[in-house]
Parts: sequence; structure tokens; C-alpha cells
Amino acid sequence: MSDAPPTPAGDVWTVKRILDWTIPHLKSQGSESPRLDAEILLAHARGCLRIQLYTNYDQPLTDPQRVTMRDLVKRRAAAEPVAYLVGHREFFGLDFRVTKDVLIPRPDTETLVVDAIEILKPQAAPRVLDVGTGSGCIAISLAVNCPNAEVTAIDLSQAALNIARANAETHSVAGRIRWLCGDLFAPLTTDTQFDLIASNPPYIASAEIETLAADVRLHEPRSALDGGPDGLDVIRRLIAGAPQYLVPQGKLLIEISGEQADAVTQLLAANGRYDDIAVLKDLAKQPRVVRAVRKG
Ligand SMILES: C[S@@+](CC[C@H](N)C(=O)[O-])C[C@H]1O[C@@H](n2cnc3c(N)ncnc32)[C@H](O)[C@@H]1O
Repeated sequence: MSDAPPTPAGDVWTVKRILDWTIPHLKSQGSESPRLDAEILLAHARGCLRIQLYTNYDQPLTDPQRVTMRDLVKRRAAAEPVAYLVGHREFFGLDFRVTKDVLIPRPDTETLVVDAIEILKPQAAPRVLDVGTGSGCIAISLAVNCPNAEVTAIDLSQAALNIARANAETHSVAGRIRWLCGDLFAPLTTDTQFDLIASNPPYIASAEIETLAADVRLHEPRSALDGGPDGLDVIRRLIAGAPQYLVPQGKLLIEISGEQADAVTQLLAANGRYDDIAVLKDLAKQPRVVRAVRKG
């Protein structure tokens, strides 16, 4: 690799040598998971599984593989997220294609999916709406895990919906998901109703975005992150609009940040059309999802 330190003549860039050079380099450039990043990028450059790096430690890279790896490492050192570099990310046991048009799915969001599946599973033919679908990770995980569910997914971004649709095709659920482009509930006819509305909306306060890690701040879509002055702009509108589109006893699930739990439960209570308001915690024991039931 031309950016690597000088090496004795005749030295070969084997899998091991590239990892030995890349890991400290990415660490020095601010990566919080330099070994994992280096391994994922090298496996991508070689077109192999990450596990296969270990069984081919002494194998040299071909020239094209070396050139690809050099480019990937440069871009990673400039804070480009690994998922965008390799073009996909695992979520809820499924592989999702991702581009800069969509937020990279986070493990945090699996908390919402687990609860949604528990709600949907006992129902014969539940109708579910995912607002702000992005890569489609929520809508598609629900369609895959709840074969009787009829899923609708909305996003403001047509580019995001195109990625989501491609992901649904990969997972053979495209025929069971309706994709709509528009602002929150606007693309729905006013008589449409759902048993469950789920959303991971933008919920970061505008001023806080500048304090986020460079990976997120510089590369992920601002429209997927920015929740307005206090982060609650979209959540407020979701809470106000959802009752009209929920059947009586239908459920609303909204992903939140840990600090928003009190404010969001108060918004739900003040609305007057919700019962059984609960805060669900993620695996790190942080408040992550607010659940409420439409009265009636
Ligand atoms: C935080 S991302 C979540 C993406 C995906 N559901 C996930 O969990 O990874 C929020 C998504 O909501 C979309 N969005 C933002 N404002 C919206 C609005 N007013 N109406 C519909 N979608 C919106 C963004 O384009 C983005 O795809």
C-alpha cells in the first residue's frame, strides 16, 4: 500500500501484514473499532468472509485487491462509515443494502422490532405502518418475521424508498409491503387504519448534531437525524397524528433517545387519546422505545 510505511524490498502484502498496518493506522485516525473495521474492509476487498482472513493469514493480496483496500482504508480514515464503504449492514439477522441515502440501521432499533413482533404475532392479519422507513429495516424485519402482517412503509425520501424496496426484494417480501413517499401520514387516505404504527424518527436536537461522531455528522443523511430544536419536532407530530390511523387498542411504538423518555411520555399523556404508556429499555438498559395504546 503506497500510504504504508516503507518496507524492506521483497516484502509482500499478505493478509496479516495488511491488518498489522491498517489496525493501528485506523486507530490513530479515530476509529473506535479499528480491528473490526480493518477486517470487514479487507474481507470486502478480497471478496471473502471475514472468518476466511484467519485461515489465509499468509496469503498475498493481488494488485487489484491491494488497490481496493488502499482506497477503502483512505476513505475510512476520513470517517466514512464502514457500512457505506462495503454497501451493507446486518440488522435483526438480515442483510440490508445501505447507501448514503439511508441511515445505517442500528442495533438499538432491534428493541422496537422485538416488541413489534410480540404485538403482531398473536394477530391473524395485522396491518402495520412504519413511518420513516429509511433502509426498510423495520418494515422488512416485521414482514419477514410476521408472515401474516400487511405492511405499509412511508418515507419523505424517494431515494431511501428505492433502497428499501430493493432490500425487500432481497428478502422476498416486496409483494407484502406498500411503499409510500411523503410527510408522515400525508400519503394515507384518511380512512386507513393500522393495528400498529412503528417509527424510528429523526430525534436528535439540531444543535447536538455538530457534537456527533464524524462518521454520523459528515456522512449520514441529516434528514434522518435532525429532530428540530429539542429533537422532538417529528415525535410531536407523530403523537398528534397517529390516533386517527390506529384502530381502537392499536399500538404506537416510537424509538427515542434515553433523555427523551419523560418528555415523550408527557406528550403522550397530554394528548388524551392514549392509554398504557410505557418506556422500554434496550440491552444497555437505556430507555429506547415508548409504547402507547390508542384508547377506545
Ligand atoms: C432515523 S431514520 C430511520 C430509518 C430506519 N427506519 C431505521 O430505523 O434505520 C428516519 C427516517 O425518517 C425519514 N423522515 C424524516 N422526516 C420524515 C417525515 N416528516 N415523513 C416521513 N419520513 C421522514 C428520513 O428520511 C429517514 O429515512
